[in-house]
Amino acid sequence: MDNKATEKAAEKAHEKLNRAVVFLGPPGAGKGTQAKELAKKYSVPHLSTGDMLRENIAQGTPLGLQAKPIMARGELVPDSLVLKMVKQRIENADCSFGFVFDGFPRTVAQAQYFGELLKRCGYEQPVVVHFAIDPALVMKRITGRRMCKIGGEIYNIFERPTKVPGRCDNDGGELEQRPDDREEIVAPRLAAYAKQTAPLVAYYRRLGRLHDVDAAKPVEDVAHQVLNIVRGKK
Ligand code: AP5
Repeated sequence: MDNKATEKAAEKAHEKLNRAVVFLGPPGAGKGTQAKELAKKYSVPHLSTGDMLRENIAQGTPLGLQAKPIMARGELVPDSLVLKMVKQRIENADCSFGFVFDGFPRTVAQAQYFGELLKRCGYEQPVVVHFAIDPALVMKRITGRRMCKIGGEIYNIFERPTKVPGRCDNDGGELEQRPDDREEIVAPRLAAYAKQTAPLVAYYRRLGRLHDVDAAKPVEDVAHQVLNIVRGKK
């Protein structure tokens, strides 16, 4: 069976995820793109701390007001703020059949807290997918990224353009660029990743939970690598 046929068969069989899958990797590695697809395939929530923080900013909540200048500088939001937000979300009943987490945990302290939280909720420990990519490759992906204002669909003006420039293929929504996707903010984001998040690769590898994917490959190829990991074939 080819890749597409295998994936279709899985969808038909209504495979269950039943655990947390964590996507770990530098900004622009393709975590969000893959998380949306995997979550859709298994009908589980796609959780992203970045999206949750941006929603708080858009709504002008106290959390959003604190996070906004930090994110604009390309730095990580303090663990104390992120962990409270994550706890509330994971305790929702819709997470009980598994979920895909993109962009969390991002520090060793967050990972330790996450492990404890999963235990307390009676969930299995996560499968961690590491999106390995040369940081030099992500600049074009980040500066070219555009997102639909309505549905959040992710495009790229260089690699994944829409049929009508500036409009989402799904719902015709206007496309926008994230404020932290400007070239001058990319370097501090990559530096924050190298200093605070990259140690998680060794952390999860030691625990035997880490699986690498070659994130420099085309979207469909990365999706296939991810699916093999989730199904325990790698
Ligand atoms: P967040 O929103 O999590 O951003 P990020 O981790 O920096 O990741 P990105 O969303 O930039 O990239 P991605 O890997 O999802 O790539 P995508 O699929 O979009 O975080 C933003 C900020 O919030 C942080 O800087 C921090 O301040 C704060 N924050 C969030 N979580 C936090 C936490 N836990 N703790 C503390 N602070 C936190 O793809 C990128 C582009 O490439 C797209 O245009 C896409 O079309 C294209 N593309 C994707 N895959 C491919 C491919 N295989 N080939 C070619 N192009 C591709």
